[in-house]
Amino acid sequence: MSLTKNPTPAPTGGGAAAISIRGLVKSFGPIEVLKNIDLEVGAGEVVCVIGPSGSGKSTLLRCVNLLEEPTAGTIVVGAHEITDPDVDIDQARRQIGMVFQQFNLFAHLSVLKNLTIAQTKVLKRPVAEATRVAMANLDRVGLAHRADAFPAQLSGGQQQRVAIARSLSMDPELMLFDEPTSALDPELVGEVLAVMKGLAKEGMTMMVVTHEMAFAKDVADRVVFMDGGYIVEEGTPQQVIGDPQHERTKSFLARVLNPTAVQEGDQFPAPDQKTEPK
Ligand SMILES: Nc1ncnc2c1ncn2[C@@H]1O[C@H](COP(=O)(O)OP(=O)(O)O)[C@@H](O)[C@H]1O
Ligand SMILES: [Mg+2]
Repeated sequence: MSLTKNPTPAPTGGGAAAISIRGLVKSFGPIEVLKNIDLEVGAGEVVCVIGPSGSGKSTLLRCVNLLEEPTAGTIVVGAHEITDPDVDIDQARRQIGMVFQQFNLFAHLSVLKNLTIAQTKVLKRPVAEATRVAMANLDRVGLAHRADAFPAQLSGGQQQRVAIARSLSMDPELMLFDEPTSALDPELVGEVLAVMKGLAKEGMTMMVVTHEMAFAKDVADRVVFMDGGYIVEEGTPQQVIGDPQHERTKSFLARVLNPTAVQEGDQFPAPDQKTEPK
């Protein structure tokens, strides 16, 4: 009897960490853009990252995807420590889907071809299987009927839904979204958020950088507020958006929730437009 000789590994899924970030620092030359980030995202969890422009939100997502190489710290995504110099980076990255503000579709390829090309070239799927997967994912985002269209024939909202379907066609374990609705006309934002909400309901692990506070309130399990390269505050949407504890969170939310209001400290003309007295 040797019950302890081969201990079973800790169970994965159902709350296990999908992303574990420890002591993450990222510098560009002398400028430290991420200062000391610790963050865990559980499997099936939706984490919305909010914060002012320049606070490091995109850099954080790009480090998780290794589009940027961290300066210090460790990042574990699923079973891979992606900051391990010996990691198979292509394999590690394959578990991660990423959707950007700009949809980055191939303009000269049909919607269907946009979804099958990486499947056949990277995953080596036969065309028939890639097509089946693509059509299933187009159906998921409500665009199966536009499979033969070219990107320019679609609205921005439809193009972003195609970009999401393309990402899903690679069977990612988790999805990163960097301001996926920021480039859209206001009336097209809802259809993209609805697709993302559907994904969250299906249990997809998601990290979403967004300024859509209603979406964050509605869909996020956790909200992370970043400023100046730090996580200033994190918690449930009710905590961070509904009852923020830090001054910086409060003033950011006041601006985002009421963008046309003049805030204390606002200057007019803006400091860089001031003309020197003659
Ligand atoms: N490739 C880069 N080289 C130098 N500085 C960069 C680079 N990428 C981002 N930065 C700087 O890092 C800071 C954080 O940028 P970013 O992560 O894009 O912020 P956010 O997404 O929150 O607006 C900014 O000051 C930005 O100018
Ligand atoms: Mg950004």
